[in-house]
Amino acid sequence: REQRIKDIYALLEEASEYYQQQLREHSTKDSAVDYLKNRGLTGQFAARFGIGYAPPGWDNLLKKLARDNDTKLRLEQAGMLIHKEDSERYYDRFRERIMFPIRDMRGRVIAFGGRVLGDEKPKYLNSPETDTFHKSRELYGLYEARKFNQSLDRLIIVEGYMDVVGLAQYGIGYAVATLGTATTAQHLERLLKMVPEVIFCFDGDQAGRKAAKRALDTTMPVITDGKQARFLFLPDGEDPDSLVRQEGCDLFEKRIREALPLSDFFFKTLEEGADMSSLDGRARFSNEALPLIDQMQPGILKQMMQEKISELTGLSLEQLISVNNLQEATSP
Ligand code: CTP
Ligand code: MN
Ligand code: MN
Ligand code: MN
Ligand code: MN
Repeated sequence: REQRIKDIYALLEEASEYYQQQLREHSTKDSAVDYLKNRGLTGQFAARFGIGYAPPGWDNLLKKLARDNDTKLRLEQAGMLIHKEDSERYYDRFRERIMFPIRDMRGRVIAFGGRVLGDEKPKYLNSPETDTFHKSRELYGLYEARKFNQSLDRLIIVEGYMDVVGLAQYGIGYAVATLGTATTAQHLERLLKMVPEVIFCFDGDQAGRKAAKRALDTTMPVITDGKQARFLFLPDGEDPDSLVRQEGCDLFEKRIREALPLSDFFFKTLEEGADMSSLDGRARFSNEALPLIDQMQPGILKQMMQEKISELTGLSLEQLISVNNLQEATSP
């Protein structure tokens, strides 16, 4: 097994080099290069992120890397080849796409994301879960963020590859992306070990706002005093990549500085749709908020959020705690 995994890492690295080479040399490379240029990507940042090109065709990678049957099997296990059912045939998973290598913390290529050059669907295709790639743990751009920043005070969590790359190119080289999945507690615990602050910055659309609410639910139980989570909401129709290109680094950084602290976002979300002028509304609000706050780690922030409910309801913390059967916010 040990050797098998080693082989898989080596093949993924080879694949990444192959895709980068194709971006420089393939007869159809112009379509890919033009696409990247049109999106404003510079060669320097394409190189920093190891961006490449999977040319059109069903067996380019297969022919290039699959020396023998054993290697074919490894490439399938690496997520790079698809085994056609009930046959001996394999074909390339990624065809005619811009290729983004996904690295682990040690810089090893563990998977790829691939984007079509046009508007075809699916727009992005990611490697499947494999022995080397666990979506719920890995974050795109984390290796690069650590490598190219001497010290990191915060990390921004965005949705997409191009958001990470676009922000980096505009001097905000500390964004990471979840990989087509929701932010998990594992992601957060990992990031909060490295930096005191994470900022969620999802797209200014319905999906992005939903993702922010989900991220709030995931964050509350793992945040501790001394760590901070904030939420940056973008104008409708914008994502970090489109916005930083439009308004530049300084304005984007201003938005980062003004991002909403977790507790503000929490209360704001709950207050929407609650009638805070009536007792009934405030009672309902409290009943919704308290169990969520209760999931938080013991500490000052938790206590302060409980106290805010106490102010809103006019009930003491002791009363709230006994009514709701809650844990006290004192240190463990
Ligand atoms: N994504 C995915 N599969 C899809 C769509 C999206 O895995 N079919 C992931 C990708 O990581 C993508 C991210 O979700 O980068 C953000 O999706 P979306 O906002 O739809 O991408 P766009 O910003 O529209 O992509 P682009 O800027 O490249 O056009
Ligand atoms: Mn098989
Ligand atoms: Mn979107
Ligand atoms: Mn985009
Ligand atoms: Mn987007």
